[in-house]
Amino acid sequence: MINRIIIAILLLVTTTAAAQTKIDRRVDSVLRLMTLEEKVGQLNQYTADGLATGPVSGDDRKDEQLRQGKVGSMLNVKGVKDTRAVQTIALQSRLRIPLLFGQDVIHGYKTTFPIPLAEAASWDLAAIEKAARVAAVEAAASGIHWTFAPMVDIGRDPRWGRVMEGAGEDTYLGSLIAAARVKGFQGKRLGDIDAVMACVKHFAAYGAAIGGRDYNSVDMSDRMLWETYLPPFKAALDAGAATFMNSFNDLNGIPATANRYLQRDILKGKWKFSGFVVSDWGSIGEMIAHGYSADGAAAAKSAILAGSDMDMESRAYRDHLVTLVKKGEVPLSIVDDAVRRILRKKFEMGLFDDPFKFCNEEREQQALNNASHKAAARDMAKKSIVLLKNENSLLPLSDTLKRIAFIGPLVKEVKQNLGFWSIEMPDDSSYIVSQWQGLRERLPANTQLTYAKGCGIADTSRGGFEEALRVAKASQLVIMSVGESRDMSGEAHSRASLQLPGVQEELIKAIHATGVPVVVVINAGRPLIFNWTADNMPAIVYSWWLGSEAGNALADVLTGDYNPSAKLPMTFPRAEGQIPIYYNHFNTGRPAASDSDRNYKSAYTDLSLSPRYAFGYGLSYTTFRYDNLQLDKKKMKAGEQISLQLKVTNTGKYAGEEVVQLYLRDRFGSVVRPVKELKDFRKISLQPGETKTVQFIINKEKLSFYNDKLQWIAEPGVFDVMVGSASDDIRVKEVIELM
Ligand code: GLC
Repeated sequence: MINRIIIAILLLVTTTAAAQTKIDRRVDSVLRLMTLEEKVGQLNQYTADGLATGPVSGDDRKDEQLRQGKVGSMLNVKGVKDTRAVQTIALQSRLRIPLLFGQDVIHGYKTTFPIPLAEAASWDLAAIEKAARVAAVEAAASGIHWTFAPMVDIGRDPRWGRVMEGAGEDTYLGSLIAAARVKGFQGKRLGDIDAVMACVKHFAAYGAAIGGRDYNSVDMSDRMLWETYLPPFKAALDAGAATFMNSFNDLNGIPATANRYLQRDILKGKWKFSGFVVSDWGSIGEMIAHGYSADGAAAAKSAILAGSDMDMESRAYRDHLVTLVKKGEVPLSIVDDAVRRILRKKFEMGLFDDPFKFCNEEREQQALNNASHKAAARDMAKKSIVLLKNENSLLPLSDTLKRIAFIGPLVKEVKQNLGFWSIEMPDDSSYIVSQWQGLRERLPANTQLTYAKGCGIADTSRGGFEEALRVAKASQLVIMSVGESRDMSGEAHSRASLQLPGVQEELIKAIHATGVPVVVVINAGRPLIFNWTADNMPAIVYSWWLGSEAGNALADVLTGDYNPSAKLPMTFPRAEGQIPIYYNHFNTGRPAASDSDRNYKSAYTDLSLSPRYAFGYGLSYTTFRYDNLQLDKKKMKAGEQISLQLKVTNTGKYAGEEVVQLYLRDRFGSVVRPVKELKDFRKISLQPGETKTVQFIINKEKLSFYNDKLQWIAEPGVFDVMVGSASDDIRVKEVIELM
């Protein structure tokens, strides 16, 4: 039996290697035929006319350039019809090299899943992978070869609008999610008809923009870069990611686009990445504005030498690379390497064999938003909703309720539910379930559900208050749906204030004053600040942006059809002044033991040090007891491991899921270590009264970190082992020692 397995593995390895060699031979056969102009053409990417997801740098006629073989890829061309038409033009070029079609399929194509930050709150890796899988199936059926996802930037600053696009603040959780999304997008094998190339972005450290201001500079130690920001990129690469995208920011003074350390030393050197790197929109040309490149030619030279293979929308390569090579400023070998990397992916995707393999109208119709995709989106969405507060078990909604008011600016909104980076279906929103529709359809017909908008999202008119108060007073319970608009987060949407916009919190106060109990649903692409609501409202649900099944998923949770299980992937601050605030911080030499312990301590004089809600926090309609923590040993040598187990019991009356979180603290190190770090978790389901044993392994890897020489090491010493329901809700703990 063993021999047969070994033979099978050897066969697989040799066939894969043989296939790769065959592709390399085919790539070289094409490369030999190409002129320098055609080679540079492969490094040039345009957006579709009139469709931009960045500053438009000039919609010069592209058809001629396509026919001349001056374009290697297009983005924002959507649908079988349009991709077929543009591919047909490109195939009129001399060598008939097919185009790659890229698209920001970030959280779904037509079936829209919750924004990635919401999905991260589920801590459900299988569901997250499934969401990416469905997105890939629909995108591939629509002629798309390549998605510019997953975005794996660690986000510790909610002022930054793009936290909505990632997996939050934690490196361990973010790395697992990055890998899951790559696997979901790329499926079993690139070249399969339902697989799209992933694109890991934004390389690197874009989420650490100073002030949370998008595109701003990033300045950090190499140790922080390696320990906190790079691991999700490496996890995505290890999961087989086909491409990377660099980032707009300068990192320690050098724009990522021209950053050899990032792209040559780390990505293509140490990590041996064999795919290709696309620049982010215009980022090559933007190096002039950065004050790094004197002109387009200098920018093109710096970028290609640093490892940026394809130029998205800056035209720097198109305009300058041929001359730079002819003048000997850029070696032809550098251009050839970039072209090989791109052609290799086109061969792997099967585009040379059949440039129209992803252009099948029938498959497109069958795939988009079919029943199984809708079910997957609803499942992901309900698992993404975080229950922040539930006093007196106001939720789930009691069956005895006969008059419910649904009030707020987002109750009847439809497209808002899609969140930022969703793909707009031209003149069709019928597939999106509004919050009103979802709840109306779920509640018994004889339950009266009344509506009032109350106010706008961001305007200051209070004209709707009176009607809202009237509706509230006539009901037994009020559900309010408030928050940002979908485009208040996302790219280029950093906010200095994170308060609920407009007069929404005033409306909440006014409705609260009627004495009718209120459940508040908050929709946003980031952590918001809503202190009065958090202090005074009995029940609060954070629904992020849930996608096209929003109404159904919200109804599932509010009615108790689904017991909320999500946990925050990002810390929620009490005030903007606390930012950046994250759970795995260092202790400092003067840690404040409590909010009253401020005298000459690392604390604020005017605000608590604690967050409003901590990383890993989220309630359930039931409760869980943790006990009986046992370790097989408390001292381990470097090559050993410690087995840990504990019992978790559902002590409430609802079946539910719990995310059991394992945190470690290295008490002393050759560099200071965080007060705790997430090292593992289990999401378990428990019936009322049921107990399960949860097991974890602590090995050297989990005790390791980068020392001041950037060595990945585990140092002998004492570690706190903490297991809990949130980073600030540790239920059981022990102390272990690495000898
Ligand atoms: C945008 C984004 C990037 C996206 C690209 C194409 O500016 O920064 O994430 O993939 O341009 O839309």
